[in-house]
Parts: sequence; structure tokens; C-alpha cells
Amino acid sequence: MKPQYFLSSFSIFLLFLHCTNTFAQSPAAAPAQPPAVVASPPAATPTQAAAPHGITNVTKILEKAGHFTIFIRLLRSTQEENHLFSALNDSSTGLTIFAPTDSAFSELKSGTLNTLSDGDKSELVKFHVVPTFLSTSQFQTVSNPLGTWAGTGNRLPLNVTSYPNSVNITTGLTNTSLSGAVYTDNQLAIYKIEKVLLPKDIFAPNAPAPAPVKPAPEKPAKEVPEVTTESPAASVDISSARIFTRNLVVGSAGLLASAMFSL
Ligand SMILES: *[C@@H]1O[C@H](CO)[C@@H](O)[C@H](O)[C@H]1NC(C)=O
Ligand SMILES: *[C@@H]1O[C@H](CO)[C@@H](O)[C@H](O)[C@H]1NC(C)=O
Ligand SMILES: *[C@@H]1O[C@H](CO)[C@@H](O)[C@H](O)[C@H]1NC(C)=O
Ligand SMILES: *[C@@H]1O[C@H](CO)[C@@H](O)[C@H](O)[C@H]1NC(C)=O
Ligand SMILES: *[C@@H]1O[C@H](CO)[C@@H](O)[C@H](O)[C@H]1NC(C)=O
Repeated sequence: MKPQYFLSSFSIFLLFLHCTNTFAQSPAAAPAQPPAVVASPPAATPTQAAAPHGITNVTKILEKAGHFTIFIRLLRSTQEENHLFSALNDSSTGLTIFAPTDSAFSELKSGTLNTLSDGDKSELVKFHVVPTFLSTSQFQTVSNPLGTWAGTGNRLPLNVTSYPNSVNITTGLTNTSLSGAVYTDNQLAIYKIEKVLLPKDIFAPNAPAPAPVKPAPEKPAKEVPEVTTESPAASVDISSARIFTRNLVVGSAGLLASAMFSL
């Protein structure tokens, strides 16, 4: 639980990456093999930073790190705090959390959060949680789109790309990169990001629904199809929704987003 330590580990890792990459650029143009840190499921060993009960407390870590007050508030109001706590109690594959800073939230058009339904707030939070532990090197070997607690597919894409000096993330509406590791053990990784990851299915709301939707709870102006899933396991299913909506969403998303943010 030493943010500084992990921050500097992260920098060292990036430096290391940078070096290996430079060395890999031989004339023979051998395809650069990612370092042999293949995404094997990490052992769910008890960790040094475990809270009372032996379960890592994400809220506490974020509180100590500072500058995550809005994200913490959302974790609480959506009950995802408890969801995380129980997931970390029984998860054998771990979790990765992209934690937007307060300044990331302050860049949103004012009122953005307040106009979201409770369901959309939950989905927004879940979109920042990946149901596997990913060390920085493992981002090189993941396949896109990454599944999150919110689901996956082309209405909820979350793509990561590793570069020598950064790990970049795109949702189609938000581009950002990891700006440091807040916390990591073998089960949980929390990375700081400077933008809130906006999922297309909330913030590009006029795209047609991919699948039968839950009856929408009373929502003021717009009908937002809900494709949230409660089960982390379900988030790995990318097949149907993705194919169905591919052509419908792409293209309109950017336009809608800019229209939305210039209101
Ligand atoms: C986790 O830590 C937060 C902040 O310190 C605290 O409010 C909360 O009760 C803790 N949760 C559990 C389940 O211990
Ligand atoms: C953690 O999981 C164990 C086994 O499933 C369960 O008995 C225990 O109540 C859980 N602890 C908390 C704090 O949820
Ligand atoms: C994410 O990656 C998938 C697979 O490479 C690609 O089809 C999709 O267009 C990407 N989406 C974004 C928003 O980059
Ligand atoms: C994100 O980056 C891609 C490619 O780098 C670019 O085409 C796109 O316009 C960017 N989107 C935003 C919202 O900045
Ligand atoms: C990665 O993201 C950073 C900022 O988040 C941006 O400056 C950089 O251009 C991106 N790299 C690529 C190759 O898109």
C-alpha cells in the first residue's frame, strides 16, 4: 500500500519496456515478442495489503492515494464498493480497476453525472472494472475489446494498446492512457487514469438496441437501452451483441458525442 513505490515500479517498468523494444528493433525485423509474462491466472495468494478479514479494501486504498473522491462516492452510491469487496473475497482471477481522478471527472460537462440514471451510474462504474488481474506487462497480450463488469462488444468497447512508453485505452468516445499504478498485488491492480472512460451505450444514446432490453426505469428525456449484466462471467460473452451492432454504432458515435459535449 505504498503508492509511491508502485508508481516508481511502473515507471521502471515502462523504461524497461522501452529498452526491450529498442533492442528488438534489429535489422532482421524479428517480430517483437512480448516479454514472457503470459496472462496466466495469478495465484490467489493472501496479499501483504489485505485489510481486516483478509480482503483488500479498494475504497481504503483509493482514500489513501487521494484525489479519487468522486470515484469513491460513485462506488458507494452504486453499491459497487460492496460488489468489489465480495469479488475480491472469492475471485480467483482477480480484478483490474481503472480509477479516474477527480480532475478526470471535472473535465466532464457539468451535470453529466447528475443526469445519469442509477442504472447508468452503475454501468459507468462497472465499465472501469475488468474481471481479471492485469499487470502492466499483461496489457500487451490481452485481446480487444476487453470485457468489463459492464459487459463487452461494440456497444461497450474498451480497447487497450501497449506502446513502448504507455498503455493507451480507447472506448471510441474516450482516449486516454494509464498514468500510474495506484496499487498492485497478484490479485488486484488499480491504475490511475486522467479521463473518465465513457461507454458508447450510455453516451452515444441514439444507437439502436442490440438485444431485448430490461424495461427501462423511468428515465427523463432519453431511452437508454440497458445492457448491464450482473454477472462478471457474462461479460466475457462478446459474440452476438457485437456483430449485431457493429455497423449501427460506428460512425454516429463521434458525432453524437461531440454534439453532447458542446451543449
Ligand atoms: C473499507 O474502507 C472504507 C474506508 O476506509 C470504510 O469506510 C469501509 O467500511 C471499509 N469496508 C469494509 C468492508 O471494511
Ligand atoms: C468471504 O468468503 C467466505 C467464503 O466464501 C465467506 O464465508 C465469508 O463470509 C466472506 N467474507 C466476507 C467479509 O464477505
Ligand atoms: C476495439 O478493438 C476491436 C478488435 O480489434 C475493433 O474491432 C474495434 O473497432 C475497436 N474499437 C475501438 C473503439 O477502438
Ligand atoms: C481517439 O484516437 C483515435 C486514433 O488515435 C482518433 O481517431 C479519435 O478521433 C480519438 N477520439 C477522441 C474522442 O479523441
Ligand atoms: C497514447 O495516449 C497518449 C495520451 O493519453 C497520447 O498522447 C498518445 O499519442 C497516445 N499514443 C498513441 C499511439 O495513440
